[in-house]
Amino acid sequence: DESGQEMTALRVPELAVPDSESDSEITYTVTAQAGETAFLEGKTTQTLGYNGSYLGPVLVVNEGQEVHIKTENQLSEATSFHWHGLKVPSDIDGGPHHPVGPNETMQVDFTVNQEAATLWFHPHALRTTAEQVYAGLAGLIFVEDDNSDQLNLPKDYGVNDFPLIVQDRSFDADNQFDYAGTYDPDGTYGDTLLVNGTINPYVEVKNELVRLRLVNGSNARNYTFGLENGAVFHQIASDGGFLEQPVALKSVTLTPGERAEIIVDLSSYGKGDTVKLMDGDATVLALNVTEETDAQMALPETLNAIPEMTTQGAAVQQFTLSGMSFMVNINGNQFDMDRIDTEQSLNETVIWEVHNAQDMMGSMVHPFHIHGVQFQVLSRDGAEPPQNEQGWKDTIAVYPGETVRLAVTFPEKGVFMYHCHILEHEDNGMMGQVSVQ
Ligand code: C2O
Ligand code: CU
Repeated sequence: DESGQEMTALRVPELAVPDSESDSEITYTVTAQAGETAFLEGKTTQTLGYNGSYLGPVLVVNEGQEVHIKTENQLSEATSFHWHGLKVPSDIDGGPHHPVGPNETMQVDFTVNQEAATLWFHPHALRTTAEQVYAGLAGLIFVEDDNSDQLNLPKDYGVNDFPLIVQDRSFDADNQFDYAGTYDPDGTYGDTLLVNGTINPYVEVKNELVRLRLVNGSNARNYTFGLENGAVFHQIASDGGFLEQPVALKSVTLTPGERAEIIVDLSSYGKGDTVKLMDGDATVLALNVTEETDAQMALPETLNAIPEMTTQGAAVQQFTLSGMSFMVNINGNQFDMDRIDTEQSLNETVIWEVHNAQDMMGSMVHPFHIHGVQFQVLSRDGAEPPQNEQGWKDTIAVYPGETVRLAVTFPEKGVFMYHCHILEHEDNGMMGQVSVQ
């Protein structure tokens, strides 16, 4: 590799072992705990993880299934368990209203009421989200359904189907995460790329279609993923499910919180070849072809049927993102747990018009996330969104000066958060709450 660094086999998060399982019900235990992780030569790094020392296992659930999760906090401080992208009632959503203290547990029960998608979970306690995610708290949820079961796609986990949780971290001279030393109120960046907690990773694959479930799990960094040779790949899913058709792309940008599933076609390569997934000049993952196969799969032409949300006559709600650093706000307000910022009726579709105001102090892209829904993007500055944003989304990049229109329908009652997914902005109060009744 050009960096001269040694490549390491990609860590692939384990599929969580359920405590019990039937077709209609599944039970998991998720424990937040402290541990040590060997990222670098020499000293290990103090980290946090779910059911392990860094990141967490994949919770696989099926549409229609009743899910029970016993969450447990073995940390020395409060945390919470937020299910990013899940349509769940707000009382189990795991936002700042639902802290779990040290040595406490919280039972979470819900029925999966959405289609196949790659979602994730992470802490969301008041003002400590950024630091806890940075230390390692993040896990994945795969929702499966009849469509994902039947679609002819790579789904051999860890063989031709890999989740990639992409993060950036800084290490101090003692091999410890240097969050305090690199903290930036506008988003803490690191100089070292971690993929599933692996530095400079490779995977060994056949020369076939390979599915990569990209998750931007960084506090603040945006990634523009592409192949080293500029080759086309196909995006098959956005945050909340499959796109209608595979979308041919040469690059895809993900801001913090966003996901994209892509298919890389390695059929024209042979044993000994390497194809690299890049973020600009940085290598994200080397795909090393170590075996050839004749059993080639064709990408399905149709992946999903996405109903178009009706917005005729819908009310419009404006959300203006402004400020920088400790002054970030939405509609001039910083987060207050005791204030409801806006109201919406259950099952009503409202157009959320989200505007990123350019500020005298500076401006940056804000990834805007809404809890408890998957929404549709109606327009970017009045124009049709790109094809890979014409599916279900729960987090959307809003660029400086831009106005993005979203169609938002809440399927559950309660109080839901919306916020910037730059975790330092979230902790600094760039967050509001909508009451759905
Ligand atoms: Cu991924 Cu409110 O968060
Ligand atoms: Cu922001």
